[in-house]
Amino acid sequence: MIVQQNVSLKPYNTFGLDENAGFLAIIDSIDDLDEIYQTGRFRSQKKIILGGGSNVLFTRGFTGIVAKNEIRGIQIQNETEEDVLVSVGAGENWHQFVLWCVERGFGGVENLSLIPGTVGAAPMQNIGAYGVELKEVFHSLEAYEIKSGKTIPFYKEDCKFDYRFSVFKGELKDEFVITKVFFKLSKKPNFNISYGAIKDTLEEMGVGELTLKNVSQAVINIRQSKLPDPMEIGNAGSFFKNPIIEKLHYEALEAEFPDIKSYPLDDDHIKVPAGWLIEKAGWKGYKDGEIGVHDRQALVLVNFGQGRGKDLFKLSQHIQKSIQQKFGIELEREVNVV
Ligand code: FAD
Ligand code: EPU
Repeated sequence: MIVQQNVSLKPYNTFGLDENAGFLAIIDSIDDLDEIYQTGRFRSQKKIILGGGSNVLFTRGFTGIVAKNEIRGIQIQNETEEDVLVSVGAGENWHQFVLWCVERGFGGVENLSLIPGTVGAAPMQNIGAYGVELKEVFHSLEAYEIKSGKTIPFYKEDCKFDYRFSVFKGELKDEFVITKVFFKLSKKPNFNISYGAIKDTLEEMGVGELTLKNVSQAVINIRQSKLPDPMEIGNAGSFFKNPIIEKLHYEALEAEFPDIKSYPLDDDHIKVPAGWLIEKAGWKGYKDGEIGVHDRQALVLVNFGQGRGKDLFKLSQHIQKSIQQKFGIELEREVNVV
């Protein structure tokens, strides 16, 4: 196991925040997890598990040990004419795994192309984009129980997946390290291009026949045109979740703001795009020194270079307050604050 002392986390988080870790350990096996959690010299230290750092906000240095998950391996476990069961090490890069599936004709994850981060973090918040969520292709996972050192299987029901949520972000927070994820993928894909932007982009691309590769490429094109590239400008994607409100509340807002956007969920609840709320409250393109709100996507908070996590956190509090005052809606952070 490689362990470095007193390391800047700047290359390890997509906000590009320059906070320090007491130690940085590269984990590539269960033995490494045993060493930091059960037996070795790090046993009593505070720990945090990190994948690609694309959904964390470091608001300060971390005195303990940051364990970067690099457990690798992709294997076909079982195959029928219809589908395939694939196991993937938690430290594999998510987008590389999507491309691996697309190349082999395994359908189900193509709409989730280009989401940054690792496979192991994907179930944490049930990643989703363009009409698809991870739970739709999820079979099961293996997770290392920190207190016992045992590896425990979790099936779909155990994970309590919801919009940007799982049991690992809820009642089992900080109790498990996800080490392997099993996906059930289809060899006879059902394309999901119901998101308007996908259809339009496929048309622009001049696509005749739908293939996994085309759909993946359309999603990549849309994402590249909408979201800032963390290599160029620090960000963690959507900073807040899209809030879900009561229909009556929505109708009152619609009377006041006829251009409000919405996604009906059921008879009583509506999801409202937080990006619209934040833009309407005047925050889009806001800049305060080294931090701000992206000028093309108001749901994305950005670090222009030398920004600090604590200032981004304060900005997020100001935005929350302003959305509460203007619309009576509480915005919940999607990003994990450390
Ligand atoms: P990290 O940021 O490293 O970790 C996130 C959280 O999970 C932390 O609390 C960490 O402690 C925990 N964690 C990480 N690995 C493990 C593990 N193996 N076991 C247990 N806990 C773990 N998300 C979407 O859902 N949809 C999108 O469309 C999307 N678009 C994005 C676009 C951009 C430009 C960016 C920067 C981010 C986007 N995200 C999106 C958010 C992010 O990519 C996902 O949440 C991703 O799954 C995070 O993976 P990661 O490996 O970087 O996790
Ligand atoms: N909008 C505005 N102003 C803005 C941004 C958006 O009015 O500044 C409006 C758009 O016009 C559109 C609506 O809000 O009508 C939704 O915008 P968009 O399609 O860009 O999606 P989003 O709700 O901002 C969500 C996810 C993304 C995911 C995309 C595509 C959440 C919190 N975010 O974004 O996920 O990629 O849909 O499916 O659910 C992430 O979680 O990090 C993430 C990027």
